[in-house]
Amino acid sequence: MRLLLSPAGRAAVALAQGLDLSPAARLPAAEAVRAAAGPELGPLALEQAVLKGRARAKHPDGDRLWWTGEALEQASSYAVAVHRAARFAGAERVLDLCCSVGGDLLPLAAVAPAVGVDLDEGRLLLAAENARVLGLDVPLVRADVTRLDPRGHVFADPARRSGGRRVFDARSYTPRLDVVLGWLPHLDALGVKVAPGIDHEALPPELEVEVVSLRGDVKEAVLWGGSARRGPRRTATLLPGGHVLTDAAAPVPDVRPPGQYLLDPDGAVVRSHLVAEVVRQVGGWLLDETIAYVCADEPVPTPYGRWYAVRETLPFGLKPLRERLRAYDAGPLVVKKRGTAVEPEVLRRQLKLAGSREVTVVLTRSAGRQVALIVEAVRTPS
Ligand SMILES: C[S@@+](CC[C@H](N)C(=O)[O-])C[C@H]1O[C@@H](n2cnc3c(N)ncnc32)[C@H](O)[C@@H]1O
Repeated sequence: MRLLLSPAGRAAVALAQGLDLSPAARLPAAEAVRAAAGPELGPLALEQAVLKGRARAKHPDGDRLWWTGEALEQASSYAVAVHRAARFAGAERVLDLCCSVGGDLLPLAAVAPAVGVDLDEGRLLLAAENARVLGLDVPLVRADVTRLDPRGHVFADPARRSGGRRVFDARSYTPRLDVVLGWLPHLDALGVKVAPGIDHEALPPELEVEVVSLRGDVKEAVLWGGSARRGPRRTATLLPGGHVLTDAAAPVPDVRPPGQYLLDPDGAVVRSHLVAEVVRQVGGWLLDETIAYVCADEPVPTPYGRWYAVRETLPFGLKPLRERLRAYDAGPLVVKKRGTAVEPEVLRRQLKLAGSREVTVVLTRSAGRQVALIVEAVRTPS
């Protein structure tokens, strides 16, 4: 890291950033940087330049910030980090206990005095540089957070990768989730980023679980405790619009056959178990009590999902489906599915459609049977 951040390192990275780094041009770029910066610094500078380019997808200043491959992969998306940091706005001080290169720390520092703590010296060096790039003053401390007894306002984002694979078991978070949650009784406020698929039932009831999606993509869940909790147990937040759905006591939805319209709820709604609330809001019903497709007679505008007009519903079977899809001149097939083992790719191969129109099929269950719905996206104002 020190080599990369030295004047020679910065010059080599700047040189590499000025080259064509597309995969096809990577080899000549690598040779040019190696020739200019030498065999040790050259590859490091090239990698850093590639990471900076990739980081723009996560952070508007991504190409000015400094990364490692794993730190970039683990870093929160900027829009999500900013949304989360807002709950700490005005705090006297907020500790980011697992700050890495600053994906959360820097947005936190923009709303309250923040201190970053991490065990990894290299990442702390990059975090310091990133704070400097953004003109923020952020003290950084190298420490094992499991040895701390923190007070006040705390945010934590434990590592969830093990051997390059996502870890779903909360006990294998580093630091362990139970250690982080154990701080709560002594804190004013706690926010912990966790995997969106975390088992809600296994979490202490005093926590709010917020599931966040960005442009329809579920990014993460956040556990909120102390004064950072907003009240509800479950929250779905849809970014960038900032629409927030919470667990009002919605009645158990009716289960009925498909109607004229079908709503595919946003993943944050599904993961936060708030489909019943959307059913209530749109005056709809479910096709199956365990499946998150909502039906209704009208496509009531909602930000919490995407409406489709149902053109037809058929019992699932290859032959009748092929026949009906051919009647639509179907070619490229968009397959949406819940509650069925059918593999879209296999289905496409088996159907052998050669028409000219893109058609969407929803495969799911209704009244205990597999059904296929031929649908068309509806544009409604949200
Ligand atoms: C998922 S990353 C944090 C990413 C960060 N929130 C971001 O958006 O850039 C987890 C971090 O926890 C740090 N970490 C893991 N165990 C730790 C411990 N016991 N003490 C301090 N830091 C630790 C790792 O070094 C890593 O940087």
